[in-house]
Amino acid sequence: MKIIKILFCSYLLTSLNIAFAQQDEKMNKYIDDLMGKMTIEEKIGQLNLVTGGEATTGAVVSTDVESKIKSGSIGGIFSMTSPQRIRKAQELAINQSRLKIPIIFGMDVIHGYKTIFPIPLGLAATWNMPLIRGTARVAAIEATADGLNWTFSPMVDISRDARWGRISEGSGEDTYLSARIAKEMVIGYQGGDLSSNNTLLACVKHFALYGAAESGRDYHTTDMSLHRMYNEYLPPYKAAIDAGALSVMTSFNDINGVPASANHWLLTDLLRKDWKFDGLVVTDYTAINELSDHGLGDLQQVSTLALKAGVDMDMVGEGFLSTLKKSLDEGKVNLEDIDRACRNVLVIKYKLGLFDDPFRYCDPERQRKNTLTDEHLSLAREAAAESFVLLKNENQTLPLKKQGTVAVVGPLANTGANMPGTWSVSADLENTASLVEGMKQALGNSVKIITHLGANLTDDAALQERATMFGRTIPRDNRTPEAIIAEAIQSTKQADVIVAALGESSEMSGESSSRTDLNIPSSQRKLLEALLETGKPVVLVLFTGRPLTLAWENQHVPAILNVWFGGTQTGKAVADVLFGDVNPSGKLPATFAQNVGQLPLYYSQKNTGRPLAEGAWFQKFRSNYLDVSNEPLYPFGYGLSYTTFDYSDLTISKTSITKEDSLTASVKVTNTGNYDGQEIVQLYIRDLVASQTRPIKELKGFDKITLKKGESETISFVISPDDLKFYNQQLELITEPGVFKILIGPNSRDTQEIEFTLTD
Ligand code: NOJ
Repeated sequence: MKIIKILFCSYLLTSLNIAFAQQDEKMNKYIDDLMGKMTIEEKIGQLNLVTGGEATTGAVVSTDVESKIKSGSIGGIFSMTSPQRIRKAQELAINQSRLKIPIIFGMDVIHGYKTIFPIPLGLAATWNMPLIRGTARVAAIEATADGLNWTFSPMVDISRDARWGRISEGSGEDTYLSARIAKEMVIGYQGGDLSSNNTLLACVKHFALYGAAESGRDYHTTDMSLHRMYNEYLPPYKAAIDAGALSVMTSFNDINGVPASANHWLLTDLLRKDWKFDGLVVTDYTAINELSDHGLGDLQQVSTLALKAGVDMDMVGEGFLSTLKKSLDEGKVNLEDIDRACRNVLVIKYKLGLFDDPFRYCDPERQRKNTLTDEHLSLAREAAAESFVLLKNENQTLPLKKQGTVAVVGPLANTGANMPGTWSVSADLENTASLVEGMKQALGNSVKIITHLGANLTDDAALQERATMFGRTIPRDNRTPEAIIAEAIQSTKQADVIVAALGESSEMSGESSSRTDLNIPSSQRKLLEALLETGKPVVLVLFTGRPLTLAWENQHVPAILNVWFGGTQTGKAVADVLFGDVNPSGKLPATFAQNVGQLPLYYSQKNTGRPLAEGAWFQKFRSNYLDVSNEPLYPFGYGLSYTTFDYSDLTISKTSITKEDSLTASVKVTNTGNYDGQEIVQLYIRDLVASQTRPIKELKGFDKITLKKGESETISFVISPDDLKFYNQQLELITEPGVFKILIGPNSRDTQEIEFTLTD
């Protein structure tokens, strides 16, 4: 029977391979024929990606889009939406350009399309892989129903510096967690068949190392050892590509002296040759033009550099369009370079099925039926509630009882436009419920809600303007801070509980939103102090796109629920969690520092030659600070629940394995509290002795489990030599024999340990 099965499987695989090869052959012939008819100008036209003009993230906006489509000078358009508008543009290409080559239509579909899910950092806090995949699937269904076929997501840049505003757009600080999420998102977007009318081409960005910008300042330089790149920063990009992502976006930053968009080592040696990527490479917005500001030459020179480095498509800057023909005539680029890039664009169009039916994504009926459906909205509510992280809950302040009067106070209480969070360009801001509206919808008449602004987002009106761009407005009261607070305090008199809706506005994180002060703005801190002085129970519902510094809040506020930016259903999800319909289970995907001076701060650091003694706060001539301990405020992986979990009986199946072997580590987890709940059990490994320094722990597995109160479960992780691999100084991926520590626990700090040996 077994032999028959094996034979059948190998027959199936052989048949599949033959079928794929035949498909490839058909596609290659189609593209060869087409390219045979193309002029050099038409080939260069395919490399041009313009903006439809609805949203821009740079100084330049595309012009003459219509005439350029007709002359075959445009390969793709982004930020143009609606099946009708996209059909019109596509018709120009199909009916009025010489070779009738269809256009691809892209957009930043980052955490949902019309149904907005939590910001990526919040989604990462769910540690729920099927859920994350599901959100990407819904985003693909809605975006394709609106005419699109390409998303500039997932963003997989590791970031360990919360000053960088774009930490909100990724999965946080950890290599393993980010790589797992990258894979899920690609599968969610692209599905099994890219040519289906409800799947989106994924684009892994920003390649590479954008999240390691010096001093957390956006677009700043990255300088990093190859060893660190390979072990810590590159794996998530690679995971997305291995999961089948067919496009990659180059990053803005300089990498060790060569900006990513001109970096031949990065785009050709690593991406194409080592990783065997055979998809499309697009730049970020005007990134080729910016190479001139990096100091690499004029537009013709930098366009040549970018093409030769491996860029296929030029986003918005039109450096390729305006200079490549001249460079070809002058012998600065070869026809093969242009052909390569053109072919990569055409292959994508072929795989999207656009040559079969260029209007396959232009069905208004699908748009009507597949957008903001009940099913999508309920997934958004579930995802939001799962993304929330309970940071503190003294004396079981939460959950609240569904009775009496709750005062919801703060600048984030009554703004629908801020709920979706940064990079939600397609969200319907006008029709997104504010926190208070959403809570009222969820709670009905069971609870009376009163509300007040209480404080401006910040007392600095100019800063507030910068932090509420793109229509993300927050009501502003121009009276003195004292007067606004006094009125709010007066209004809370009739309340039994106060919910303080404070933190960042959505545009205080995201692109070009770096900050050097990560406290809650002082206007809001003063309000919080006054609310606490009332003596009533205060729950801080904290909106943020990044880890903030919350030492004061942690000391003074009894309950803190970090809700990031939860998307369309934020208000309802907050009500679900505050009133106990959902028990919070999110865990931090990035460390929360005590203060900005500790940054960059991450759990998987190296030990140094002078580590602090265990439990020590300060020791002279040891690696530490005079004024603050090395500890974070909240470690990576941290998050509370309304119930409690006990970890016991950590065991391993073997104390020693060979390189061909594996072992199982098991731990018993018991729900010891009064609520059913979900727990994220985390497995870390430490390589105790190696030929080079290794992190003090690295996440290597996790399991999200549900336990009823009183229930126990034994959770097992299989550990194989693959989990112990690392890149050595020669960039070989190796496993070295020796002793390893397994650490299991509810977060990266509170772990139990056991050792095993790997032998030759
Ligand atoms: C600039 C951003 O860096 C990138 O993430 C985005 O996809 C493009 N603009 C297009 O909007």
